[in-house]
Amino acid sequence: MQKFEEKKFNLPKLKGISEKTIEEHLKLYAGYVKNTNTVLEKENPKLGFEFDGMRNHEYYFSALENGPRDLKEDNELKKKIEKDFRIFNEWLEKFKNMAITRGIGWAMLYYDKKTDQLLNAWVDEHHIGQLATCEIIVALDMWEHAFVADYKPSGKKDYINDFFDNLNWSVVEQNFANATK
Ligand SMILES: [Fe+2]
Repeated sequence: MQKFEEKKFNLPKLKGISEKTIEEHLKLYAGYVKNTNTVLEKENPKLGFEFDGMRNHEYYFSALENGPRDLKEDNELKKKIEKDFRIFNEWLEKFKNMAITRGIGWAMLYYDKKTDQLLNAWVDEHHIGQLATCEIIVALDMWEHAFVADYKPSGKKDYINDFFDNLNWSVVEQNFANATK
């Protein structure tokens, strides 16, 4: 079996999210990589939780690498969001409202190649609610460990807004480009 490797991320100083939170969060991510390998060795049934925990975090951290970049006006993803959700800000508002849901999990934007459409979906924990065969385009970690030390439980909304201020859209554009290949 091929072992999964822990990825390294080139993370800048972020708005709102402290270095300490990122440091602790990366340790948790490393745990998912380790546990994915352990589960596969032992053929234990918890692969979905560990594997999705690993992958979701890779989308999350890589989209925060190298500092914020705007979504380009003429980019295919921008056009697709406007096609599927009418106005970019309508999509963004829907996504943010979904992210603020009570409970732990992930707010996701997926691309479904079979029907050629973007889909917002909430994922409980790391794996419950993942859309089979769809590609992850945006993954926003809504577990408390991602924000509570910096924002307090009542600051969820600020964390979500800061996530978008910190987002490197060029990575997200690339996720979409890869998904539509
Ligand atoms: Fe996390």
